[in-house]
Amino acid sequence: MEYQKIKFGNVDIEGKDRYPEYRLVFPEKPIDKTILDVGCNLGFYCFMAHSEGAKRCLGIDNHSAFIMTANSIKERLKYYKMIQSAIPALDFIQTDVLNDYNYGTFDVVLLLYVVHHFTKIEDAEIVIRKCYDMANEVAIFGVLNPTESVSFQWLINRKGNKKLALADKYFTDLFPNNKIEVIYSTVDERSIIKIWK
Ligand SMILES: C[S@@+](CC[C@H](N)C(=O)[O-])C[C@H]1O[C@@H](n2cnc3c(N)ncnc32)[C@H](O)[C@@H]1O
Repeated sequence: MEYQKIKFGNVDIEGKDRYPEYRLVFPEKPIDKTILDVGCNLGFYCFMAHSEGAKRCLGIDNHSAFIMTANSIKERLKYYKMIQSAIPALDFIQTDVLNDYNYGTFDVVLLLYVVHHFTKIEDAEIVIRKCYDMANEVAIFGVLNPTESVSFQWLINRKGNKKLALADKYFTDLFPNNKIEVIYSTVDERSIIKIWK
């Protein structure tokens, strides 16, 4: 099963429904916003935001198969008249966020459930700061919660893989002067952290 279910027009990909989380990220339609989604997977957040009136959405992911699928969905949606006119402002690019890059600035930058894949806490800090710097209005992070009272923790899953979990304290320490909004998931051990400029 795919990480993201995509159901728009003539596209129907089975997967996990990310709509409830999307609504937490964007409680209001992101009309006229520019959005960068780092670690976009199949592009669900970009497709949704775009269909709700976002002006420009760029999704990046280091996994070529995900970007190929996102681009093929985009091609298929070209024939779906609801978002046909807006399609040129929707792009997907394969790139690794750990490498140097500069895509300019966006009103909203998303980094949702990506840092737990990193193997070094230093990488997480670099990428979180980069995302914050690229955001004009708000940078939004999706993270796994630590199980202990620490600012970060390496969780070990059943297969023995390490996953980085970040507490809200990690973000308040990193951005002591910003307004920070924390939304704890009611269904699993995850949180959405919004850092406002
Ligand atoms: C758990 S999925 C989350 C997908 C999406 N952000 C969401 O919340 O629905 C993590 C995504 O991050 C991507 N990813 C992991 N490391 C990355 C990196 N270094 N650069 C870009 N994308 C990365 C993976 O390929 C995967 O699509």
